[in-house]
Amino acid sequence: MNEAFAPKIESAVESFRTLLCQQLERQEKMEKDSGAKDFSKMEKIVVGLVPGDGIGPILFRETERVLKKLVEKELASGKIELKQIEGLTIENRLALGVSVPKDTLDAIKECDVLLKGPTTTPKGGTLESANVTLRRELDLYANVRPVTLPEEGIDWIFYRENTEGEYVLGSRGVEIPGKLAMDFKVTTDAGTRRIARAAFEYAKNNGKTNLAIVTKANIMKKTDGNFSAICHEVAADYPNVTAEDWYIDIMAANLVNKEIRNRFQVFLLPNLYGDIITDEAAQIQGGVGTAGSANLGDRYAMFEAIHGSAPRMIEEGLGDYANPESLLRALEMLLRHICLTSAADRLAKALNETAKEVVVTGTREGATCRQFADALLARL
Ligand code: IPM
Ligand code: MG
Repeated sequence: MNEAFAPKIESAVESFRTLLCQQLERQEKMEKDSGAKDFSKMEKIVVGLVPGDGIGPILFRETERVLKKLVEKELASGKIELKQIEGLTIENRLALGVSVPKDTLDAIKECDVLLKGPTTTPKGGTLESANVTLRRELDLYANVRPVTLPEEGIDWIFYRENTEGEYVLGSRGVEIPGKLAMDFKVTTDAGTRRIARAAFEYAKNNGKTNLAIVTKANIMKKTDGNFSAICHEVAADYPNVTAEDWYIDIMAANLVNKEIRNRFQVFLLPNLYGDIITDEAAQIQGGVGTAGSANLGDRYAMFEAIHGSAPRMIEEGLGDYANPESLLRALEMLLRHICLTSAADRLAKALNETAKEVVVTGTREGATCRQFADALLARL
């Protein structure tokens, strides 16, 4: 080996040691965590509003109108308090050189649940995605994404692990410039067990009998291998749910195979596969602009659109044509999470009807974000 690389290798090995210790500590802490907050017993719930950037504030403005209408009574009685959260824009984050500014994070931690617009993630560099930071800081370990296509009998729900895999050290890889780069993928036992538990509990409580564990355990033998094995351990507690193993590549094909796709019900997957396949699933539903996403932890929960901030739409002057359905679906999930079931049902019904009547395509040919929201509000 060329001696010139020796110092680089030494320093890479040192940083790897630090990473390993930190990840082990994280796993130990998770093992001790216990119990989720019960929203049905809370007297007051603080909902943080985080518009984000790109098309975020455009979608947000409309969704906020809908929220205020739906929880009018709870706002008046003080059961729900809305809190505007400032500072989570790409301009501010770049200016401060931090993924989530400290003041913003402190304000967020004073809330119980968050409604969040998309935030831009710069490619390369070292600025971590705000989503990844928030998911870690608030320990939002379950990314839950429903996708439905009633005319085909499709009613899918994805339980994506949301705090580890390729994401947890995604900004902390090592590199010998001009020669090689290495990133890390981390799967902890406790981290896998809790997402598996969440997915199987959902299946059990909602009468679902099929659960697909989706990995690439034939290649990623340690991380995905453990993920699959631990999911099967958890499965043993749910005799009425059939747990099947699938590889991510063939599952990506299954989702576009109309012959078999409606037999799947619950999907349980590591972080990155979940990221990719839920965009595919959303597209099958009608586009990423139609899909909402819940990030759930035991203490906090954050609800957002499945998609990003769409900087290209802003550059092309198409921001007003962005589809607010994604964020409105997220709002529906938020309302369910805090036990405002009838408000969630009202929103779901109005959304289904409005989506048939007002078609937002993301182009000038379609309806605008505002037109969609006006039509929806008229139905509430
Ligand atoms: C998502 C997004 C995020 C992710 C980005 C914005 C970091 O694609 O929520 O699916 O990769 O998880
Ligand atoms: Mg994604």
